[in-house]
Amino acid sequence: MNIAERRAATRLEAANAKTADLTVVGGAGHVGIPLVLSFAAKGMTVNVNDINEGTLATLKAGRLPFIEDGAEEILAKALREKLLVFTSRPSEISPTGPVIVTIGTPVDEFLNPVRGVIQSSIDQLLPYLHDGQLLVLRSTLYPGTTSWIDAYLKRHGRNLKVAFCPERVVQGLGIKELREMPQIISGTTPEAAEAAAALFGPIVPELVLVEPMEAEFAKLFNNAYRYIEFAVTNQFYLIAKSAGLDYHRILQATKHNYPRAKQIPRPGFAAGPCLVKDTMQLAAFARNEFSLGHAAMLVNEGLVLHVIADLRRSHDLSKMTVGLLGMAFKANSDDVRASLSYKFKKELASAAYEVLTTDPFVKTDPELLPLEDVVSRSDLLILCQPHSCYKDVDFGGKPTVDVWGFLEKANVIS
Ligand SMILES: NC(=O)c1ccc[n+]([C@@H]2O[C@H](COP(=O)([O-])OP(=O)(O)OC[C@H]3O[C@@H](n4cnc5c(N)ncnc54)[C@H](O)[C@@H]3O)[C@@H](O)[C@H]2O)c1
Repeated sequence: MNIAERRAATRLEAANAKTADLTVVGGAGHVGIPLVLSFAAKGMTVNVNDINEGTLATLKAGRLPFIEDGAEEILAKALREKLLVFTSRPSEISPTGPVIVTIGTPVDEFLNPVRGVIQSSIDQLLPYLHDGQLLVLRSTLYPGTTSWIDAYLKRHGRNLKVAFCPERVVQGLGIKELREMPQIISGTTPEAAEAAAALFGPIVPELVLVEPMEAEFAKLFNNAYRYIEFAVTNQFYLIAKSAGLDYHRILQATKHNYPRAKQIPRPGFAAGPCLVKDTMQLAAFARNEFSLGHAAMLVNEGLVLHVIADLRRSHDLSKMTVGLLGMAFKANSDDVRASLSYKFKKELASAAYEVLTTDPFVKTDPELLPLEDVVSRSDLLILCQPHSCYKDVDFGGKPTVDVWGFLEKANVIS
């Protein structure tokens, strides 16, 4: 492309950005992409606004930056039909349609929410937002943040319709779940709630209308509850193990045709970018008096240390190469954010002779090795994530730790 063509292309993008039906800020992220594609699948034009130009280029080229079920076809069609425009600056958001914000909302080193992230994003957008425009907050928010942003905008003499409509889909299955799950809608005014309902109505099956703070709590309760569920089963696992029993046999007996136990998940390494952080946001709100939430963190994070302590008692790890199978934070995902597999790696780095890692999905870690190499070079294996492709693999009789009770053919030692 020569300079004139590039200029023409830029002009074309700018024109589209001006007229897109809506803008998604953080549109190239894990929450952003399935949302963008869900709107595009309904024929709407979307301004995908994201500071990560690398990810925007990947999308523009028709590729997904991470695994998202069913996304490829919709992306290809949306690109063909010119429904997407990609922008990277706040000044390029569309001036009329709704603006949805899906940027990350982390906790800090004290496990407290970082309001500054969302505030600075709003500050950057402020000069380009127009009064009367709908601003939808979709990132997970500390309770009270939506009303605070509304007041903040008013303090700056601005009059936007502010809504909070949390994302609750499971990562990787966002497109399917958006189609199937109710969407919680809240607005700081009835007009804002109505406008948000009109926006989401076409892409979701059902709307649930509540007040902003109720919506903020609903999202955090959803995630904290899930995190506690994992902790319950992990603690049961440790108790059964301390009695010298096989928890998986007990779990099977517990659940078999017994509806009230149907929900109990299998034990495993539960972490990732949302569950811990959102449980801690709730704890911060409760002045750290969320004993169940903190207990869940101790159990879930502690499971890794229990496994290593058990191995140290039964093996001389200092002479052994340990292979870690599955480095993503959950099964069949390529996302390593806050993955407990890396806690294993860190802890074992000083306890074992050598630590090798593998994952068929993760593309961001240059230290990963092919599965065959890890299996052949290791004295001991730990199944960190139960990726489906590991199910029937024969690990050549190598002793394997499988907390999940997942492997069919391995020589499982605990
Ligand atoms: N990942 C999930 O499955 C999931 C599910 C429900 C809710 N959430 C919540 O959604 C929010 C986003 O999570 P995520 O996993 O999509 O994060 P992510 O890091 O994958 O995506 C965030 C995107 O925002 C972009 N970004 C950051 N600051 C920006 C700015 N100022 N302007 C434009 N773009 C900007 C980043 O480049 C990134 O692409 C968080 O609050 C998270 O807790 C996540």
